[in-house]
Amino acid sequence: MRVLVVGSGGREHALIKKIKESPKVDYIACCPGNGGIAYDAECFPVGATDIDGVVSLAKEIKADFVVVAPDDPLVMGMVDALNEKGFATFGPKANAAIIEGSKVFSKNLMLKYGIPTAEYKVFDNPQEAIAYIKEKNEFPTVIKADGLALGKGVIIPETFEEAVAGVKEIMEDKVFGASGNKVVVEEFLTGPEVSVLAFTDGKCVKPMVSSMDHKRALDGDKGLNTGGMGTVSPNPYYTEAVAKECMETIFLPTIHAMNAEGRTFKGCLYFGLMITPKGPKVIEYNCRFGDPETQVVLPRLKTDIVDIFEAINSETLSDLAIEWDERACTCVIMASGGYPKSYPKGIEITGLTDGQLSGVTVYHAGTKQQDGKLVTAGGRVLGVTALGDTLEDALQKSYDGVRQIHFDGAHWRTDIGARALAAK
Ligand code: AMP
Ligand code: GLY
Repeated sequence: MRVLVVGSGGREHALIKKIKESPKVDYIACCPGNGGIAYDAECFPVGATDIDGVVSLAKEIKADFVVVAPDDPLVMGMVDALNEKGFATFGPKANAAIIEGSKVFSKNLMLKYGIPTAEYKVFDNPQEAIAYIKEKNEFPTVIKADGLALGKGVIIPETFEEAVAGVKEIMEDKVFGASGNKVVVEEFLTGPEVSVLAFTDGKCVKPMVSSMDHKRALDGDKGLNTGGMGTVSPNPYYTEAVAKECMETIFLPTIHAMNAEGRTFKGCLYFGLMITPKGPKVIEYNCRFGDPETQVVLPRLKTDIVDIFEAINSETLSDLAIEWDERACTCVIMASGGYPKSYPKGIEITGLTDGQLSGVTVYHAGTKQQDGKLVTAGGRVLGVTALGDTLEDALQKSYDGVRQIHFDGAHWRTDIGARALAAK
């Protein structure tokens, strides 16, 4: 099989390394890819949102299967376009990807089908949103831009003044463009967060092993929100009892709800959950694999991922047993100095041979090969990942790896997994 993967981050690198393990696959291409992916797949300079470009590339390389990993091309309908030209794909169609593409859609879906989530109201007028926040007078509160916003469309104001500023930024200054035409104002929930990625063919849903993201830039969950500074799997808060409750009250009802709306979801559905004192609730849905959750979940997958992709396409996922490695997995992100604010690019990375280091797997996110050197090319640069018999073992290996890799300005959190260890 010849497989094309669309995207360029650590998530895509983890997908490609897993696809490479399949005996069915003899060629992998990626667009646009990155400096580390280039060691595992042939990279082509076609942008991940260039639908016509990706369809042409799929034809040119005679792809048998196309995996669309990022949210924006899914929401824009890349899978629909590929299917129209006869390509087999992994990823939802646009009418199902809306579960991530519009917070208003997903909140209304949960309300209609009784799926537990934070209480909310939708506004298309900033004055009305502000009046509602004033009347409620409960802080912190949560304000979310309706559309995609590079994971930055959520603000959690502590005061009324901050809330007014937030509503204005999103709805009047349009810092997230048209994504801010509407906002969701919702109740602030508390409790540990759990990420659960799930395979679904629209008929059944098979959750993968759980994980925990670390979204803030600095140790102790301080600093700005990022795309994710590290992950661990499993997540100790996701007990068997919680898993059972999630299946009954969240996972199956979501699959049924999407079918009932004529929007059958096929692919990987990401459940961002909060385990509140009143039980698990949905914080967000994503229509794709999480980043950096994928980097700790896929190394634990023992079943051939291509078999899973094919079973989803033929809607026979219920017949396939999916097996997982019992070991723990951890990923520590090394980021560029300054990230998540502005940061320099083109800084040389040393300590790796052909992009890798023994004892760990290095998933590349923002790297580039330039004049025979590996250099930084993004905010999140590398995800240093290890399996271990225990969470402690895996963390030790990840951090040993981090210490052997160097680029000027590199920063990483030193407490990835600390909360998971404290929970045990
Ligand atoms: P999202 O982009 O929807 O995942 O939101 C980003 C982060 O904001 C989440 O991971 C949570 O930590 C936080 N968050 C979102 N919604 C809520 C909520 N209703 N209550 C508390 N925290 C929230
Ligand atoms: N790590 C969060 C996400 O992929 O959206």
